[in-house]
Amino acid sequence: MSNPAVSAPTIGVFDSGFGGLTVLRALIERLPRARYAFLGDTARLPYGSKSRRTIARYAVESAQFLAHEQGAEFLVIACNTASALALDAIQQAVSVPVLGVIEPGASAARDASRTGDVLVIATDATVQSHAYAAACHTLGLRALEKACPLLVPLVEEGWTDHPVTAEVIRIYLDELSADAAAHGLHADTLVLGCTHYPLLRPLIEQAVPAGMRVIDSAESAADAAVRLFNGRAAASAASAAQPTEILCFATDSVEKFERLGSRFLGRPVGRVELVDLGG
Ligand code: DGL
Repeated sequence: MSNPAVSAPTIGVFDSGFGGLTVLRALIERLPRARYAFLGDTARLPYGSKSRRTIARYAVESAQFLAHEQGAEFLVIACNTASALALDAIQQAVSVPVLGVIEPGASAARDASRTGDVLVIATDATVQSHAYAAACHTLGLRALEKACPLLVPLVEEGWTDHPVTAEVIRIYLDELSADAAAHGLHADTLVLGCTHYPLLRPLIEQAVPAGMRVIDSAESAADAAVRLFNGRAAASAASAAQPTEILCFATDSVEKFERLGSRFLGRPVGRVELVDLGG
């Protein structure tokens, strides 16, 4: 019989699509002895072009699925858009601890930046919320945000190493640099404020000025999760034989999730279960 004192915690991880699997990958590297329930709300992706009200409704339904139906004891909102616009709504809707990705991303930028000026690229909704600018401001940083709406569909298309994607990134970053100069910012750090963007990191690193630090919010969110979940993680470490368990759920094509998901997770996602969260 399993001993609840040493059983692995169930960590729920949620994204609008596959991108949050980059956060799951970073979590597994740090907390391998856990049971992960990952939900990709692929039927309703993208969130980044929708209103706060719609994003909050979708995100709350997704969080409730993980907390109430999958027994998640912690939730990681592995979606910048949902974290920026719906974190409060999610925290009110479930009784388990909930971690978003915005504050960890801003903290990592604070640690990386010497000038105190940072750039953020993200979806339209995240930029319009100014959640990153606010989180950076609280930490004493100046931040300039830019929406890059073409990048999510390019990643979804699998064009993560494609000349068209490289050119789109170059144009966005040139515009952002010009804007930063016009605002008198001396930015030395770029935050990838969308869970799809870590897959573009090699192209982005080629396009940024020499010496600019690139912050992956997936890595910093996973670091924050380890700090938050440390007590349970330490308990689960007692169960040395406990392997990583991953359950994946999607609200649309499980075949596409299985095919694309492994690219984000860096290993096969295994069997994916279809769930219906309504329209
Ligand atoms: N997961 C979203 C984010 O991190 C990007 C995809 C979407 O727009 O739904 O902002």
